[in-house]
Amino acid sequence: MDFDLTAEQREIQRLARAFAEAEIAPNAADWDRAHAFPRELLGRLGELGLLGVCVPETDGGAGADFVSYVLVLEELSRADAGVGVTVAVHTSACTLPLLAHGSVEQRAEFVPPLARGEVIGAFALTEPGAGSDAGALRTRAERTDDGWHVSGTKQWITNGSFAGTFLLFARTDAEREGARGVTAFVLDAAHVAVTREEEKLGLNSSSTADLAVDAVVPAERLLGEENHGFRIAMSTLDGGRIGIGAQAVGIAQAAYDVARAYAVERRAFGQRIGDFQAIQHKLANMALEIDAARLLVYRAAWAKQAGHPHTAEGAMAKLFASETARRQTAEAIQILGGYGYTKEFPVERYYRDAKITEIYEGTSEIQRLVIARELLGKPAVGGS
Ligand code: CAA
Repeated sequence: MDFDLTAEQREIQRLARAFAEAEIAPNAADWDRAHAFPRELLGRLGELGLLGVCVPETDGGAGADFVSYVLVLEELSRADAGVGVTVAVHTSACTLPLLAHGSVEQRAEFVPPLARGEVIGAFALTEPGAGSDAGALRTRAERTDDGWHVSGTKQWITNGSFAGTFLLFARTDAEREGARGVTAFVLDAAHVAVTREEEKLGLNSSSTADLAVDAVVPAERLLGEENHGFRIAMSTLDGGRIGIGAQAVGIAQAAYDVARAYAVERRAFGQRIGDFQAIQHKLANMALEIDAARLLVYRAAWAKQAGHPHTAEGAMAKLFASETARRQTAEAIQILGGYGYTKEFPVERYYRDAKITEIYEGTSEIQRLVIARELLGKPAVGGS
């Protein structure tokens, strides 16, 4: 067993941290208020290779491994979790499934522009009536003479307002219930209309949009096998959840950094508040949980990179890291007291941003279900 990062992983971590500290963190509060970050940032991330970290060089990426990719997500999210999720969805929910399931032609057409950051990717699975029960989706794709007519609505699509490539899931067999009869398609921005930009509790710098789709696309836009798209969605989420775990670790680390600095600076009752055992225990618990979450995330990333099963590992990492981020960002506010509740310090933003990590890419309840199914097998209907 080797807990060291490789020289290449450390180099990519250093690059992402330096960029995030210089170009992202100082602006994150403004972007939170503005409900957007400047789109030029994506161009800069693309130039640095951070929009295709774990995509092979032959496909336009930086050619690093999946562990390097989660290190990048952790660093970006430590600075601004909205930037973190933008990169996470672009990479692991759009680019990587196209790489894994695309034909030679699809890979050649769609992956290099995504990996270079010339086009941003989105993942369109969720619908108003299909969130945790993703298999209940109603967007339809009906055969035409030489392709498919895709029609329906999608909800809460990260990057939806500016993405150029959408991995979109639609029902191709109306007779089949649930997850069966779902197919994956690759759509362009021209095929979808943004109907609403969501207002959220946090993660304000990222875009979350509702979409309407009513488009005829050629047969070559079908990804993988007809009626087997749900497997693509699920295996995509297996990897995506590791990225959200990394995002949660980044947010929690940022909160810890502020809380620790405050504890050694702030004085009360004639001493540093960090000299009180009550504060020491809080900081110790923060450090402990963040370390445990990070280890789970790195283990899951290593398992994916090594080609090992990682469904349960990813769900465990995401579940523990997201609950850690929610708990420990709240503790950071507690350590800062009244200051923590104001916008003078960033911990209130971290707290708002952390909450979503327990919800998207599968709620904590879904993660526990996924872990239990891996332990016990899938129970009969009604048994879960
Ligand atoms: N890998 C590959 N295939 C898988 C799989 C996996 N991990 N898990 C299931 N499958 C396959 C099954 O083998 C089955 O295939 P066949 O039909 O060929 O046998 C098919 O998928 C259906 O599986 P289930 O019967 O288990 O499906 P289900 O309806 O019981 O649902 C679920 C399972 C785990 C609850 C699933 O619906 C789920 O994960 N829900 C949560 C949805 C979610 O995470 N949404 C996130 C939205 S994206 C997002 O949030 C992005 C963002 O903005 C950050």
